[in-house]
Amino acid sequence: MPSGARRLAVNGTVHSVRLPPDTPLLYVLRDELHLHGPRFGCGLGQCGACTVLLDGTAVRSCTLPVSAVGDLPVTTLEGLGTPDRPHAVQQAFIEEQAVQCGYCINGWIMTTVSLLAKTPNPSDPQIRSALSGLICRCGAHMRIFRAVRRAAQQRS
Ligand code: FES
Ligand code: FES
Repeated sequence: MPSGARRLAVNGTVHSVRLPPDTPLLYVLRDELHLHGPRFGCGLGQCGACTVLLDGTAVRSCTLPVSAVGDLPVTTLEGLGTPDRPHAVQQAFIEEQAVQCGYCINGWIMTTVSLLAKTPNPSDPQIRSALSGLICRCGAHMRIFRAVRRAAQQRS
């Protein structure tokens, strides 16, 4: 590994990146690794469009410095499933036609994956609480909620 570079484990592959330590993880993922599942929405940790999994927990990559990642594995939307073999949560979003413009959907899917890993059979209030910090400007919240509930029911 070149000096000054840091290792970053993303979607099962270890990358070597050389960037200032305060660079937001989102910029590394999008601009260096060309993973465009996580989106830039607000850049302030307020909308959730940039959400990724850090060791299985949903985090907002726009406010997470790359230096804080350490050796923990990062999973982006690209690491969940493929168009041919979508992840169960992605499949539930497709079946409920939860997407309108789609810009926010990364955040909802990644947060749902994190929720269901920790709480496989969440109650409606638990779903609402887990998703409460996410924003959809299209107002597709009810369809998204149904997709999350469908994903949870299919797991249980
Ligand atoms: S872009 Fe990260 S929370 Fe909005
Ligand atoms: S589907 Fe358009 S912002 Fe959520």
